[in-house]
Amino acid sequence: MLNDIERTLFHEQTILRRLDELATQITADYLGRDLTVIAVLNGSLFFMADLLRRIQLPLRLDSISVSSYHGGRQSAGVVTFEQASLPDVTARHVLIIDDILDTGLTLRAIRDRLLNEANPASIRICVLLRKEKPRAHELEADYVGFDIGNEFVVGYGLDFDERYRNLPFIGVLKPEVFSAPSPST
Ligand code: XMP
Repeated sequence: MLNDIERTLFHEQTILRRLDELATQITADYLGRDLTVIAVLNGSLFFMADLLRRIQLPLRLDSISVSSYHGGRQSAGVVTFEQASLPDVTARHVLIIDDILDTGLTLRAIRDRLLNEANPASIRICVLLRKEKPRAHELEADYVGFDIGNEFVVGYGLDFDERYRNLPFIGVLKPEVFSAPSPST
């Protein structure tokens, strides 16, 4: 796996130091409120686990599974919810946690569905990474780990073709990896 990485963007220690800051901010912002975290699977798993263990508040944890990418680097443009029902967040303050804000399609679909169907007291969005680019789907993140350029990244939960999620850092793949046949085919 390491041979496929062209360069590292954020080392594990850099990520964890930033999570300390984010967690401090979130803890202060939600003090005294009924917080429900909704993690968007699978990309946010590592981020969520490391961030939540730093938040010093009682909270409920739920998850939601959607797909907008189908293996490669291009979004399919349609968000499919994998489960029929939404988490029960009536009157609760919801913090949605996702790995990356790219076009905004996925998070906007999740936020709008929760707002329209689940009666939360509030909804905020927390992402580890935000791509700096004009966004086709208008959406602001309330908490952002790092801003990055408009390039495809892997590691720390982020995958290419379901690989590289378990790298402890975030990096950019060598261009030839994208054109190589997948090991599973
Ligand atoms: P949108 O475009 O809906 O994308 O904001 C959100 C989802 O797309 C995936 N995504 C990426 N995954 N490296 C990845 O491994 C990337 O650079 C990347 N950009 C978008 C991701 O699942 C995210 O939740």
